Amino acid sequence: MTRAVITHSPRESDELASPDVDMSTSLARLELPSPVLTASGCAAAGRELDQFFDITTIGAVVTKSIMMNPRSGRPTPRMAETPSGMLNSIGLQGPGIDSFLDNDLDWLRQRGARAVVSIAGGSVDEYTRLASRLRHVSDIAAIEVNISCPNVESRGQVFACDPLAAAEVIASVRRNTAPGIPVLAKLSPDVTDIVAIAKAVVSAGADGLSMINTLLGMVIDTNTMRPALAGVTGGLSGPAIRPVAVRCIYQVHAQLPDVPILGMGGIRTGLDALEFVLAGASAVSVGTATFNDPSAPARVAKELAIALAERGFSRFEDAIGYAHRSPEPSAAPGGVVAVHPVNPQDDVVDSDIRGGVEG
Ligand SMILES: Cc1cc2nc3c(=O)[nH]c(=O)nc-3n(C[C@H](O)[C@H](O)[C@H](O)COP(=O)(O)O)c2cc1C
Repeated sequence: MTRAVITHSPRESDELASPDVDMSTSLARLELPSPVLTASGCAAAGRELDQFFDITTIGAVVTKSIMMNPRSGRPTPRMAETPSGMLNSIGLQGPGIDSFLDNDLDWLRQRGARAVVSIAGGSVDEYTRLASRLRHVSDIAAIEVNISCPNVESRGQVFACDPLAAAEVIASVRRNTAPGIPVLAKLSPDVTDIVAIAKAVVSAGADGLSMINTLLGMVIDTNTMRPALAGVTGGLSGPAIRPVAVRCIYQVHAQLPDVPILGMGGIRTGLDALEFVLAGASAVSVGTATFNDPSAPARVAKELAIALAERGFSRFEDAIGYAHRSPEPSAAPGGVVAVHPVNPQDDVVDSDIRGGVEG
């Protein structure tokens, strides 16, 4: 089916409030009525956002990564503004798994929201214990495994930066998770070859991938002439990282087209979300944008539906990976569609998309 290629700025208003687009999607075995979720660490367990919109209407709430024991996180200051982004070094502050289950998950259950539980650990054993603890807990839609954590048993090397360590975590979480619950491996962009990490975790049993976590960054305060964050380095998020996220998703979807991807990284609008979907994401998470606009996940979902309708899609799922299609002929059938001529040299082949940086 030929789609409309929009040549004007699409309208993103309430005028097209309910376009007739089937927005349902699936992430591995998880069926979702909407493809827009929250991002881990940016909405706690959804309780605060529920004052701004009905959180049962979005795809799911992805909870802040939880560890076995309570943690107070890293010292302050742990936030810094950057151009088009934000640097944080929260350091996985949290109440520990028991309190999380009794309070946060219980609240989500009673509220009737879908919950994707994010877990994090400092060792394979900690991830294993978390998965085992969650195994018999009801009302968990999926488990997202945050592997961007230092491995305390391996000189602090981040699990997500090493295919073997990443695979070991995912294999153990998969083994200890109920078979019907999808396990999503959350990848870091701070690697040379994200496709290699994606392949390693999928071979180890990941049912889907979440991409991307923050990029490691640093700000120096030019007044104090010291690092702005007490923790020196932090994770960069927000629109500044969006092109990196889109590139990662495009590269991985090209190599693993059947593996569902939950995409995130600087999504603020429906058109931003559409980029991720066209690159190959089956759903998206909205993170940093919620700090500025707590209704962002619901608004992005609405804007995405409008953007899809404007491009001739009646089903969200038809747009997944659509940017990977072969170049169309320049003639537009039916007069509906204004298709631009495509330069055959723009047809990116596999070796190109995995290739190096051009200066
Ligand atoms: C303040 C803050 C806390 C975060 N905490 C977590 C976390 O606990 N676990 C995790 O997997 N990702 C965490 N992230 C990363 C986000 O889930 C997301 O992957 C990243 O910020 C990119 O999306 P965004 O630009 O929309 O925020 C955090 C991000 C921010 C800004």
